[in-house]
Amino acid sequence: MKTAIIYASTYGSTRKVAQTLNQKIPDSTLVDIKKQSIDPANFDTIILGSSIYIGQVDKQMKNFINGYKEVLKNKRIGIYFCCGFEENLQTYLDTNFDKEMIKDAIAMTMGGEMDVSKMSFAHKMITRMVPKSEQGKNREVTLHPEKVEEFVKQMFSQTE
Ligand SMILES: Cc1cc2nc3c(=O)[nH]c(=O)nc-3n(C[C@H](O)[C@H](O)[C@H](O)COP(=O)(O)O)c2cc1C
Repeated sequence: MKTAIIYASTYGSTRKVAQTLNQKIPDSTLVDIKKQSIDPANFDTIILGSSIYIGQVDKQMKNFINGYKEVLKNKRIGIYFCCGFEENLQTYLDTNFDKEMIKDAIAMTMGGEMDVSKMSFAHKMITRMVPKSEQGKNREVTLHPEKVEEFVKQMFSQTE
């Protein structure tokens, strides 16, 4: 069973998760959709990983999803997001994906990373406007490596 792990990352956290998935899933191919192209028709399972910026998945990921809509409908789909507001998982799914595509998909958030020193000027500015948590402290954004295992389990324990 062939799996494609297709990801879009700006600062690397989504890439890290994709690389871990690649190590854990036998016969899997890692694709950076910002640099490579891929025909999903050649795979049984497609994992789509994207970071979220201002509520949106990466533009190149969106182009890929839209370009292969029909092919992707007939695949086993896994979706993960690296993001700060994990409670918005369903909203991010609904806004960025076709209903048909997410209907039977396994979808999870994996947490994220916010390293201001790596950010572009524009991203730094936007980050300053992100609301603080109720405690008045900065919301802590960290990756959850333990969720990768859970995601793989859910993806591959599904019955055909
Ligand atoms: C400018 C900016 C905007 C962001 N907007 C959102 C957002 O709307 N929702 C969210 O959950 N996370 C948001 N995040 C958090 C990112 O999704 C998170 O940092 C993620 O780990 C980035 O992934 P990457 O390192 O693969 O690019 C934002 C981060 C930045 C810097």
